[in-house]
Amino acid sequence: MSNIGSYETRHRTFSWKLAEGELEYGKSGNYNIGYFCTDRIGELGNGTRVGLIWEGFTGEVRRYTYDDLRIHSNAFAIMLRQLGLQPGDRICIFMDRIPELYISFIGILKMGGIAQPLFSAFGEEALAMRLEDAETKAILTTRKHLGKVRRTRPSLPHLTRTIVVDAGDRPLERGEIAFSMEKAQRVENIEIAKVTPETPSVLHYTSGTTGKPKGALHVHSSIIAQHITTKWVLDLQDDEIYWCTADPGWVTGTSYGIIGPWACGVTQAVLDAGFSAHKWYAFIEKHNVTVWYSAPTAIRLLMKEGLEPVGKHNLSSLRHLVSVGEPLNAEAVIWSEKAFGRPFHDSYWQTETGSIMISNYPGMKIKPGSMGKPFPGITAAVVNPKTFEPITTAGTVGLIAIKPGWPSMFRTYWNNQETYEKKFKNGWYISGDRSSVDADGYFWFVGRDDDVINTAGHLVGPFEIESALLEHPAVAESAAVGKPDPINMEVVKAFIALKPGNQKSDDLTIDIMNFIRKKLSPLAMPQEVEYVDSLPKTRSGKIMRRLLRAKEWGEEIGDVSTLEND
Ligand code: WT7
Repeated sequence: MSNIGSYETRHRTFSWKLAEGELEYGKSGNYNIGYFCTDRIGELGNGTRVGLIWEGFTGEVRRYTYDDLRIHSNAFAIMLRQLGLQPGDRICIFMDRIPELYISFIGILKMGGIAQPLFSAFGEEALAMRLEDAETKAILTTRKHLGKVRRTRPSLPHLTRTIVVDAGDRPLERGEIAFSMEKAQRVENIEIAKVTPETPSVLHYTSGTTGKPKGALHVHSSIIAQHITTKWVLDLQDDEIYWCTADPGWVTGTSYGIIGPWACGVTQAVLDAGFSAHKWYAFIEKHNVTVWYSAPTAIRLLMKEGLEPVGKHNLSSLRHLVSVGEPLNAEAVIWSEKAFGRPFHDSYWQTETGSIMISNYPGMKIKPGSMGKPFPGITAAVVNPKTFEPITTAGTVGLIAIKPGWPSMFRTYWNNQETYEKKFKNGWYISGDRSSVDADGYFWFVGRDDDVINTAGHLVGPFEIESALLEHPAVAESAAVGKPDPINMEVVKAFIALKPGNQKSDDLTIDIMNFIRKKLSPLAMPQEVEYVDSLPKTRSGKIMRRLLRAKEWGEEIGDVSTLEND
């Protein structure tokens, strides 16, 4: 029996009070996410249960019980306090997927800090931009990424503490602190920072079309929504071994890779290794993974390898599969039924929504290719892009809109309340995605309503890439757009006009690609560069990415009346 039981009944009878009840929210007087994810599990009598199974790329495995998670996160909280960090300070986590990443996240919340996880593959510029915007006070990192941190520090006056979690006895520079979670004193209980449900908890940066990445700020009560969606969509039950393949640098990796599963007190497995079908299947087999939350790009990669590697492993522990981040094609759903004997259930949400908004639920009929229906408690619609009135005709495309008020809704964009307010129209939160709804209430994703590139489920802002490209000595102007890709859905393609005196060449292309990879990240790196004499612009001088993109996708170009140099 699934946790959700009947979707229809849950939908009819849902209230957020009921969701709070499932978590006994407020009963202890403690509203801190850190408490719910560790101490409370002990209070429920499950402290000796394994909360984290971690496997590194060498195959090394470490296990942590909920008692360990509590004690180690206490150590992080104590250390941060001793360094003078205060509640409300932004504290960045910049590491690969090692146990310290997951546990320090809880430690930061326990001392009242705002956790700011950043993807460890970010280059200096991507890192610096986000630390500068958040006026981040401290960063937790490892030796592997310390070089990048050191190079950004001179431009970041607010960043006064660098904590290296694997330094051992190695010498560090001034202002750097070595801290070992395993060697720290084991403190059973600490005073967890008193927070209210509205106290800020997590700051996730996400890319938009214009301007720098924006920091979506979440609060401690987000856990009410993350917990209930974990229970009802991911269907986590007591004895689950759950694997979320997402990196906590992105919201899936915190909402459903830390908070949701630990609030449910289940065992979660983490694989800190690159992708290979064999490795992934071996991981499922070895740890008896039962529930798997992954992404379409990963599923397509597995599909590419075919059924043969599937047959080489015993994957019978798997009982529920869920996907997020990009459109899940119908073929992937059908293939997973063939390969694993069960379909992937699509789920839809965003950094800003903090938890799953639209999904396919255990027991509910799946229409392959559809994202499913709104989560109980979530009012979602597609609205007319001009009037923002709900569209009631089945099959008509509009913008996905959600009625504000769910607990995990972002509360602002850091330092950018103005942009935050622009996301709300006519009493709806406007997602910026296009979809239709069919006569049965199922949502069908159509595409984004902006120029943001979704590569392998990760959003990359064209503006960020274009700004970085301008720093390359040969580049006069550029446009970055998404180009269709059979695996990653989209990859970055850059159109570049060179400065006089520069010649296009393969060497230059490789140099430009590496330039972006190092400055921003491998995701932002253009997979293709096309040299052009000039870029299409509007009369006001804005580059028409829409036009370049349409060409890549073989789409109708639409209204070009504002083109200056058509
Ligand atoms: C954007 C949000 C979802 C949390 C991780 C990504 C796209 C997300 C789906 C889906 C089609 C999807 C949307 C959305 N997206 N889920 N099931 N089908 N597209 O969070 O980085 O804020 O990205 O990802 O375009 O707006 P994010």
